[in-house]
Amino acid sequence: TLLREGYTNFLVTGDVYRRDSIDSTHYPVFHQLHRRDNHPLGILKNAIYEYFDTNYNNQFQKFDDLCPIVTTKMCCCRLVVIDGTLFVQNFDDVLVPADHVSRSYNDTYYVDADTVLRCHTSAHQATLLREGYTNFLVTGDVYRRDSIDSTHYPVFHQMEGVRVFNPSDWNASSMDGTLYAAQELKACLEGLARHLFGAVEMRWVDTYFPFTNPSFELEIYFQEKWLEVLGCGVMEQEILKRGGKTDNVAWAFGLGLERLAMVLFDIPDIRLFWSTDKRFTSQFTKGQLGIKFKPFSKYPPCYKDMSFWINDSFTENNLCEIVRGVQLIDNFTNKKGMTSHCYRITYRSMERSLTDEEINELQMCGKILTQLHHYHSANE
Ligand code: PHE
Repeated sequence: TLLREGYTNFLVTGDVYRRDSIDSTHYPVFHQLHRRDNHPLGILKNAIYEYFDTNYNNQFQKFDDLCPIVTTKMCCCRLVVIDGTLFVQNFDDVLVPADHVSRSYNDTYYVDADTVLRCHTSAHQATLLREGYTNFLVTGDVYRRDSIDSTHYPVFHQMEGVRVFNPSDWNASSMDGTLYAAQELKACLEGLARHLFGAVEMRWVDTYFPFTNPSFELEIYFQEKWLEVLGCGVMEQEILKRGGKTDNVAWAFGLGLERLAMVLFDIPDIRLFWSTDKRFTSQFTKGQLGIKFKPFSKYPPCYKDMSFWINDSFTENNLCEIVRGVQLIDNFTNKKGMTSHCYRITYRSMERSLTDEEINELQMCGKILTQLHHYHSANE
C-alpha cells in the first residue's frame, strides 16, 4: 500500500497479531493489559470477577480474549468467519441508529467499509446471546478515535456484563420483568461499587443508550467530584428477540476499566497503563486492589560516579544517610590493603531534565562532598 502511495524509503512500526498459544515467549497480541494479573487493569478485572463469582454462585461465563475486529452490519448468515476469525457486530446488532455519531469515521477506526475495531464491548452482546449464554462478562480493549491527554487514550478497556431472566424469576414478585431486572441490576452494581470502593456515596442518573431502556449511569462521589463509572440498563427487547429469546428480560452494563483503576490506584495519567517502565509495573501485585501508585519522574536521570578510599569504620549506610539512590559499582583493594569504593549517584528531577553542567556544579561545590568530609573527620 505504501509503495502504491508513492513512498520509496520507509519504516513501519506497529502491533501485529498472530493466533498462538500463550507462553513465556509467545503472545497472540502484544498488549492485552487486562489479561495481566500484575497490571492494575488485570487486578481490577479479577476483583470484579470475584464479586460476580461470590454473589452469583459462579454463574457468569467470562470472556476476555474475543477478537476486537468486528463488523458494523447484521449479516444474513449472522456470523462472519474470515481467515478463521469470528466477526461479530459492533453497531447494527445493538441497534445503534444509522446516523449515530459513534458510527462516524471521525470517531471509530474502520478497517474497511463494514469492519471496525470495536468501540465498546457491547459489540459482543448479541452474538453471545445467540450462542446461548445467559450470564456473561466480556472484557476487552476498545478503540475510539480521540485526542490524547491525561484522561483520554484511543485504546482503553471495558467490561460488559449481561444477565438474562426467565418469567419464573419475576413472576413471584409483584413487578413486571423490566422493573424486576432494573431493580436487580441496580442492587448488583451498587454491591460491586461497594466491593471495589468500600463505603462510598453513589447516585443513579437517567440517560440514553440505543441498546437499553430504561438506561442509567452510576456515579460515585470521589475526591469531591461526581464521577461517572458505568452505563447500564434493561436490554432492548429487540436484541433478545434476535438472539432467539422472546420471553425473557435482560440487563446489561458496560464499565470503563481505566476510569475505575485511576481512582482505585491513584494513577494520575491514563498513558501510564501502557508503561513498561519497571518503576510503574513493579508497583502492582496480583490480587492487591488497594495499592496506591507512587509517582516517579518522567525525566531522564543524570549519573555521576564518585570513588574514594574508605577506612574500617565506613559502611554503605553512612553514604546512604547523606545521599539516596547510590549504587556500588566498583570495589578495589590495592597491594597496601587500601580499599576504594566507586558509587554511582542518580540525580533525577520530578520537574525537568537535568543538565550535566548543573549537576557537576552541585556535586563539586555542594553538600555531598562537604558532608562526606565531615563524616570522615568525625570518625577519624
Ligand atoms: N456500551 C456503552 C458505552 O460504551 C455502555 C453500556 C453497556 C451501556 C451496556 C448500557 C449497557 O458507553
